Amino acid sequence: MKKSKKLFSTFKHIPRLNFSILPTPLHNLDNLSNKWDRNLYCKRDDMTGFAFGGNKTRKLDYLIKDALNKGYDSIVTFGSNQSNWCRMTGAAGSVSGMDVHLILAGLKPEKPTANIKLDLLCGARIIHLDTEEEHLLEEAALEHVEKLKKEGYKPYYLAVGGSNAIGALGYVNAFCEILEFSEKTGICFSKIIVATGSSGTQAGLIAGQLISGWEGSVIGMSVSRKREEQEEKVLQVVMDTCQLLNIQCKTDIAKKFTTVDDNYLGEGYRINTKDCEKAIELFAREEGIFLDEVYTGKAAAGLIDYLNKGKIRKSENVLFLHTGGNIQLFE
Ligand SMILES: Cc1ncc(COP(=O)(O)O)c(C=O)c1O
Repeated sequence: MKKSKKLFSTFKHIPRLNFSILPTPLHNLDNLSNKWDRNLYCKRDDMTGFAFGGNKTRKLDYLIKDALNKGYDSIVTFGSNQSNWCRMTGAAGSVSGMDVHLILAGLKPEKPTANIKLDLLCGARIIHLDTEEEHLLEEAALEHVEKLKKEGYKPYYLAVGGSNAIGALGYVNAFCEILEFSEKTGICFSKIIVATGSSGTQAGLIAGQLISGWEGSVIGMSVSRKREEQEEKVLQVVMDTCQLLNIQCKTDIAKKFTTVDDNYLGEGYRINTKDCEKAIELFAREEGIFLDEVYTGKAAAGLIDYLNKGKIRKSENVLFLHTGGNIQLFE
């Protein structure tokens, strides 16, 4: 049986919505490949279509369906002031007839730009908190859930980034698309390079890898944490996703497949680096692809450094997963 078929059979019974326009394109990066004499490809999850696209639509396909099936009438979540996750949750909730309450990190800007402008356009209700501390934002979001319950609502709480087992299914599905591409074209990848933050994207890909038996590595370029902490976070979601799909998987085996590189993080989340800036410029000028300064630019900086350091061989096919986020360029 083809690997993609085997994988698909494990999650096809789980219902989802169709916000995402799938499969997303996967194409060669001609100029960058020529520049380094390597075989580089890009999967365009910046083109998932819904609400300007990006990786979160795949997660929301599953999460919003779950919320609707369980009879929830509203959504509460949190994120950074310019959160892609919050923008897409705002749109997905609104389209599905649910009020969306967003707890955003940082003061209300004088003029709403980029994602905040789009949150408001979708009718999301925003509470601005003057902190960047994740545990304080989470606490405030959970308090808001309790407040809404007292008012008679049934709110669905979503952890930041939609990174739980249900959300990660979106990336088990994306992994299935990558396998299908390889089976159709004969182009097999040895490495998938992706930005990793709240962890669900990389975790879904790794769960797909473990279930299908794909022999390659999914390398998460960390955008917010040191390697050890991020690997632990990813591993937890991998295990939860396998459990949701009734797949037996030993933690020590999943751990071997969980690889995070924090060398391109710089001073931290949302703090730009010179290499990230250069990568954004390179992708724009060589490929006409726009990246962002928080996620994909840092992942691309990692890819470019691997190329410069000879960590990618001529015989390899390497896939860069573009997870979206370029609305950030309009902040
Ligand atoms: C554009 C973009 N890329 C990558 C990520 C990281 O994905 P994850 O949070 O699933 O690790 C995010 C998360 O917000 C994102 O907005």
